[in-house]
Amino acid sequence: MQKIIKNGTLITASDTFQADILIEGEQIKAIGADLHSPGLEVIDATGKLILPGGVDPHTHFDLPMFGTVSSDDHYTGHKAAAFGGTTTVMDFVPQTGDDAGGLQADLAAWRAKADPKAAIDFGFHMNITHFDEKIAAEIPFLVEVGITTLKVFTAYNHRLRLGDGEIFQVMRIAKEHGMLTMLHAENGDIIEVLVAEALAAGHTAPEWHARTRPAWGAVESALRAFSIAAQTEAPLYLVHMNAGGEVDMLHYARERGLPVMGETCPQYLFFSEDDLRRPDGAKWICSPPMRSAADNARLWEGLEDSIIQTVGTDHCPFFFDGTQPIIYEGQPIAIPGKELGAADFTKIPNGLPGVGDRLPVLWSTAVNPGRLTPNQFVALTSTNPAKIFGLYPRKGALVPGADADLVIWDPQRKVKFGVAMSQQRTDYNLYEGWELTGYPEKVFLRGHLIVDGEQWLGQPGMGQFLKRKPGAEVL
Ligand code: URP
Ligand code: ZN
Ligand code: ZN
Repeated sequence: MQKIIKNGTLITASDTFQADILIEGEQIKAIGADLHSPGLEVIDATGKLILPGGVDPHTHFDLPMFGTVSSDDHYTGHKAAAFGGTTTVMDFVPQTGDDAGGLQADLAAWRAKADPKAAIDFGFHMNITHFDEKIAAEIPFLVEVGITTLKVFTAYNHRLRLGDGEIFQVMRIAKEHGMLTMLHAENGDIIEVLVAEALAAGHTAPEWHARTRPAWGAVESALRAFSIAAQTEAPLYLVHMNAGGEVDMLHYARERGLPVMGETCPQYLFFSEDDLRRPDGAKWICSPPMRSAADNARLWEGLEDSIIQTVGTDHCPFFFDGTQPIIYEGQPIAIPGKELGAADFTKIPNGLPGVGDRLPVLWSTAVNPGRLTPNQFVALTSTNPAKIFGLYPRKGALVPGADADLVIWDPQRKVKFGVAMSQQRTDYNLYEGWELTGYPEKVFLRGHLIVDGEQWLGQPGMGQFLKRKPGAEVL
């Protein structure tokens, strides 16, 4: 099966040029001027841009939380990602603490959920939320099965948090096996005190979620972890950067040559604690929380100045009102969501939708006004995550031999964005009513056309699990 995309403008992380792309089977076969091959399907991309499919390094599909589950599963979330131009996602495997099966059982359970549903290609990160000698001995097995990344937390005491000594040990093992540690940075001890005080004082509204999780906790916890990176000489990736001070700490550490990198997410660029004070403030609840306009501004600088390497989403959606069904693929569906915490902010499931919003929202807000070049956009949303997570050049690249994960992007298309367009399986969208210019027109996964305008052509099960290589680049 061969096809050719003609007359498009290719955007890579470093270059912009006009060329045709010849696809053979599932891969890019050739890129060049005026390519021809008799009898093959021709797709005309005149006036359009061709981007490598987006790589979202941070999703949570079908994640159990607070007695419910994140409302996109490994099919619906993949479909939403594809409509937004993303063709690879990386999901986090929870560590259940089931000693009998250990990490292998946790991984097998997540594969069993994902494999039959996957509609785009996917990889996994492993959460390490309980650590002992047995887990230490099991970590190297993950590399054999293609999982080269471990997430640790300095928050969620008694549930997910590791102590500094444990994080130090995890990072030493990671270093030895060419793995990368990812950090959720907040101060769990202080959060615990503040939450207890807030509840005792009768403060139950959503804004208290943010007020009990101070930005300084994220900042000092990030620096603490960077110091562990220095002491172990192991790479570290700071997930969901939300505080301007984290940008400062990342800059400080990188200036000193430490192998540390960072990711932010669109929600932290646009929203603040003020949004939690709205009547529907629960929609903005995630951890870490929204901060301030000054934090938004510093995060933008972090992107513009290449202090931050990636933009992921931390997609972890819940219904705002999970008692009211929505229609999804013709069927009514309702999944308990944010209403669970109507009387107590600590019971509001943490997380929000974004996997399909990331590229269109960022293009309109960053590329159109000239804050980021189209090449920086591709680097942040596709090429850099592919490199950092050991997928490059199979993913994130427009080169012969790469998977033909391609987005034909219409830079002129204007849309009124929102829940109706975004395809995420939830009842709200953070960017409701935003006027966007620039949107995917066609999306190819390994040469297969899976999105054609409004039409979904993908299928559950066509996404492949990506075994990743250890020793990936530190950017
Ligand atoms: O609120 C969030 N972000 N939920 C997902 C879990 C996490 O820590 O990333
Ligand atoms: Zn996290
Ligand atoms: Zn997350």
